[in-house]
Amino acid sequence: MPKVHFTSPLGDADADVPAGKTLLEAAEACGAPVGHSCGGACACSTCHVYVRRGLDSLGDQDDLELDRLDMAFDVRPISRLACQAKLGAADVDVAISEESLKAYMDENPDQRRALEAAGRWPPKRAVAT
Ligand code: FES
Repeated sequence: MPKVHFTSPLGDADADVPAGKTLLEAAEACGAPVGHSCGGACACSTCHVYVRRGLDSLGDQDDLELDRLDMAFDVRPISRLACQAKLGAADVDVAISEESLKAYMDENPDQRRALEAAGRWPPKRAVAT
């Protein structure tokens, strides 16, 4: 079972999920703050992540994912949409993009307010990639 390690300015999270699950399902399993405004229908780009290790083990990108990634900010060769990227057998390291983290906070205002009250939102450092 592959391990997925998520990194964001708010901290790290780890998930063990079966091969064939998406990075978004892995994020939901461990509470990693990956935004997903369209609910995983490949109709936005708020689940944009950077795959720093294990990129080649993920399922291929189709034309729809590539078209949606064109809508994202700061797209890089290691960019994927978490709702479309299916895990293979290898472990994967993922950095959550700034746009995805902001979308997650928009989708979870109670969590954002708690982080604001604690002085942890907005984050002081950018996404490490
Ligand atoms: Fe909208 Fe992935 S959640 S494209």
